[in-house]
Amino acid sequence: MSKYDFLPDKLNISITCASGVEKVVKSELNRLGYESAPAINGRITFSGDMLSVARCNLFMRSADRVYIKVAEFPAETFDQLFDGVKGVRWEDYIPKDGKVTVNGKCVKSTLFAISACQSLVKKAIADRLCGVYHLNRLNETGAEYPLEFSVFKDTVSLYINTSGAGLHKRGYRDMVGIAPIKETLASSLLLLSDFYKDRPFADPFCGSGTIAIEGARIALDIAGGIGRRFAFNDWANFDQKIFDLAFTEAKDKERRDRKLEFFASDVDPKAIKLAKRHAERAGVADKIRFEVKDVKHFCSSLKNGTIVTNPPYGERVYDKKEAEECYKSFGNAYKNLDGWSAFVITSANNFERYFGKKCDRERKLYNSNKECKYYYYYGKKEKIND
Ligand SMILES: C[S@@+](CC[C@H](N)C(=O)[O-])C[C@H]1O[C@@H](n2cnc3c(N)ncnc32)[C@H](O)[C@@H]1O
Repeated sequence: MSKYDFLPDKLNISITCASGVEKVVKSELNRLGYESAPAINGRITFSGDMLSVARCNLFMRSADRVYIKVAEFPAETFDQLFDGVKGVRWEDYIPKDGKVTVNGKCVKSTLFAISACQSLVKKAIADRLCGVYHLNRLNETGAEYPLEFSVFKDTVSLYINTSGAGLHKRGYRDMVGIAPIKETLASSLLLLSDFYKDRPFADPFCGSGTIAIEGARIALDIAGGIGRRFAFNDWANFDQKIFDLAFTEAKDKERRDRKLEFFASDVDPKAIKLAKRHAERAGVADKIRFEVKDVKHFCSSLKNGTIVTNPPYGERVYDKKEAEECYKSFGNAYKNLDGWSAFVITSANNFERYFGKKCDRERKLYNSNKECKYYYYYGKKEKIND
């Protein structure tokens, strides 16, 4: 039996994600069996318990972080902020030796001095916990409880970050390639596309392999966060048996023996070497065929596949002209693909012109804060005789 009381049974859970992918997060939550409220300011909330927290961290592919929302109250002065924070039952969440770190932001509010608010929030929590635990000062020798506050239009919201590092840190990508895409965005692109596990898949600009690796893990039902730890794993007042339940569920769902037709290519041999290394670390190296290839030679004898790709934008490594050449070659190669769909993210406004085709749909997304468009080209799927 733990020397600590366990965390509360009923929790207000709040999930953050990149702007534009809220729909993906909501459907992931639905698939996990949770009914969420509409997204507000990039946060999707629902009620659950610590098993829900563990399952969301472990299974979700598109979410940035999973938080417990602890309180919300109005405040326009430092006194109101201090009293509001001190009034929260922090002892329900943070044990005697818990280490409290505080981060936050103030938007469109009377309180706007972030570092002053940060110190005050920390002081109010320390005062509360010292009173309850009969301490002169917090010793903070235990696990970290990362706290985040937001003051938005004079309303303070307080959250505990249960994930720790962002969920894009799956653990398999240990070296950086050229302009890699976040794992969470890669998964969101796949989940927005018509990609399906028993269809061929390709990324002809694969770089360090992120999109193909995330796709293979989706197709094999390997949970997004299977290879990593989360902040709550270190909490002494979290019953680790709950995590074991979620972990066993994730392992039971895996279908690592599924046969996939996955292709990933790039003109740069160094990128392919890195992609292979990451695929190895992600446990999917034997599921993806990697090849050094210029997109102008990209072809497939297979039908009805899906391309999800992140070509050069013509900004950092490649200049505008080189990027436009890539789009042209890609467009020409795409003409010869039977029934394939293509889903392309880029910040270049003239993509359709050089690709040579108007898209069927587009969606605004952000890649590392850069506004991009995600272009959808639906292939005419043909019936395949088996
Ligand atoms: C934006 S990066 C892709 C990053 C990748 N999504 C990742 O997560 O690492 C674009 C990639 O396109 C590749 N590339 C540029 N021109 C190409 C061409 N003509 N054919 C194939 N790949 C090309 C580059 O080598 C680079 O790796």
